[in-house]
Amino acid sequence: MNNTSSVLSFILDENIVEIDFNNSDAPSPTTTVLKYLRALQRHKGVKEGCSVGDCGACTVVLGELKNGKIHYKAVTSCLVFLPALHGKQLITVENLSYIKDQKTELHPIQKHIIELHGTQCGYCTPGIVMSLFALYKNFDNPTRKEIENALTGNLCRCTGYQPIIEAASRACSENPEDIFSKNEIATIEKLKKIHQKNNNKSLALINDSQKYYKPVDLIHALKFRKDFLQAIIISGATDISPKINRFELELEEIIDISDIPELKYYSSDDNNFYWGASVLLEDLRSFSEDNLPALHDILEVFGSMQIRNLASIGGNVASASPISDLLPLLFIYDAQIEVSSLQNKSTIAIKDFIRGYRKTALKADEIISKITIPKPAEYNTIKAFKISKRKDLDISTISAAFRLRLNNDNETEEIMIVYGGMAEVPKRALKTEDYLREKNWDRNVVEEAMTILDDEFKPISDVRSDAETRRLAARNILLKFWAESQ
Ligand SMILES: Cc1cc2nc3c(=O)[nH]c(=O)nc-3n(C[C@H](O)[C@H](O)[C@H](O)COP(=O)(O)OP(=O)(O)OC[C@H]3O[C@@H](n4cnc5c(N)ncnc54)[C@H](O)[C@@H]3O)c2cc1C
Ligand code: FES
Ligand code: FES
Repeated sequence: MNNTSSVLSFILDENIVEIDFNNSDAPSPTTTVLKYLRALQRHKGVKEGCSVGDCGACTVVLGELKNGKIHYKAVTSCLVFLPALHGKQLITVENLSYIKDQKTELHPIQKHIIELHGTQCGYCTPGIVMSLFALYKNFDNPTRKEIENALTGNLCRCTGYQPIIEAASRACSENPEDIFSKNEIATIEKLKKIHQKNNNKSLALINDSQKYYKPVDLIHALKFRKDFLQAIIISGATDISPKINRFELELEEIIDISDIPELKYYSSDDNNFYWGASVLLEDLRSFSEDNLPALHDILEVFGSMQIRNLASIGGNVASASPISDLLPLLFIYDAQIEVSSLQNKSTIAIKDFIRGYRKTALKADEIISKITIPKPAEYNTIKAFKISKRKDLDISTISAAFRLRLNNDNETEEIMIVYGGMAEVPKRALKTEDYLREKNWDRNVVEEAMTILDDEFKPISDVRSDAETRRLAARNILLKFWAESQ
C-alpha cells in the first residue's frame, strides 16, 4: 500500500528515536517495550516480573499529545509492542532524576519514597515510582482512594503499602512543577515534529517473519483488513500479549488499530452514548462515573490502572470471553455493536454478536468500529457484580448484571439477569426472570427464584472454582442484588 512508512519514531531521553524496520538489524515489531528497554545500557531500571501484566514491575509512562498538552499514563511495558510508542514520549525511571550543579536531583516521588522508607528489596520500586509519577502528573492532592487506584497494578511483597501511599500523598501535594513540566514546550515541539515528518502515513513494519500495520485512520484500517484477512487485529493487546509472552507465539500479520482517531472518540445524544471501539477502559471509567454508575462500578475492579490505560472496549467485546467483566452489563444495557468493512457498516445487538465460546458474528473483513449504549430509563435499577479471589487485578470467577423495573405495588414489571462464568458465553437466566416477573419483589420470592436459578446453569469446575461454588455464588449474587435494590 502506498503512503506507508517503515520508520517508528518516539521520544526517549529527550531525543527523537527512529527505528527503521527496513534495516536488517531492526528488532521484530512485536518486541515488547520491556524487552527493548532492558537491552539498552541506560534503561535497566524497568524490571520483568510476571510478563503478563499482573505485577507492575515493568511499569513505564507514556506521554501523549492531546489538545496541545501532554497526557501521561502508566502502562505495563511487558504488554506493549514497540509500534505503540509511535508519536509518543516513553518515560522510564531513569528519566525522573537529573543533574544540577553536579548533584543528582531526585523527582519528588523518588525523594519521598526514600525518606519514608517506601522500599526494601527494591525489585518492585521502579514500577511503583512510575505509577506514582503518572499519579503526580494527573492529580494535585489525590485522595487515598485515588492513590490506591494508581497502585492496584503494582505488587510489593516486602515493604507494605502504607509508606508508599504516604510518600505519594506528600509528593503529590507539593509544587506540581517538575522537570517534565519545565521541558513540556520543548517536548511538544519534538512530538509535533514527529507528527509532521510522519505526514499522516500508516506504519508498515515488515521483516521476513512478520507484517505489522499501524493504520493512521479508519479507511486504511479497513483496507488492511480486506487485504490481510488472516491478520490479527490488536488494540490494547492486553488480551493478545499475555498469550504471546506465555507461549512464545509469533504473530505473522498484525493490524494495530490503537491510535485511530475515528475509533477513539466518544459522544452522546438524547438517546444514546457512543464509543469508538478503541476507547480506553480508563477513559470509560472516568466518563461513566456520572452517567452509567453500574459500568463505573465494574470498571473500578477491572484489571489495574496500567491495564485500563491500554485495554479497549472493542477488545473486550471482540474477545467474547465468558468471564469478561463488561459483557454481562453490555447485555443488560442492550448495547449495539457497529461493525465496519470497506464496503459496509452494520449494527448488531450484543446478544446476537456473541455467538459462542470466544466466537462473535464478526466477518473476516470487518472490525468493530463503535459501541452504542442506549441511555437507560431512569426508573431501572441496574447493577453489576464481580466475584474473584482478590478484589483488584483478578479474573472473575463469576460475574453478573441485573436490570429491574418495579411498579408502584413493588411488583416486578421487568427484570433481566445475565451471568458470566456460568456457561461458555455470558448467559441470561430466562427461567428465573420468568418466575420473578409480575411477582412481589420480596425476599421470599427471591429465595424461591434462587432455587430456579440453580437448575438453569451447569457451570464447570476449573482452576478458579469448582462448579458447586459457582452455583452457590450465583444464587447469592441474586440475593445481594435484591438487598441492594431495597
Ligand atoms: C493483567 C490483566 C488483567 C485483566 N483484567 C481483566 C478484567 O478485570 N476483566 C476483564 O473482563 N478482562 C480483563 N483482562 C482482559 C483484557 O484486558 C480485556 O479483555 C480488554 O478489554 C481487551 O482489550 P484490548 O484492547 O487490550 O484487546 P486486544 O488484546 O487488543 O484484542 C483482544 C481481541 O479482540 C480483537 N479486537 C480488538 N479490537 C477489535 C476491534 N475493534 N474489532 C475487531 N476485533 C478486535 C483482537 O483481534 C483480539 O482477538 C485483563 C488482562 C490482563 C492482561
Ligand atoms: S512484568 Fe509483571 S506486569 Fe509486566
Ligand atoms: S520493595 Fe521488595 S517487593 Fe517491593
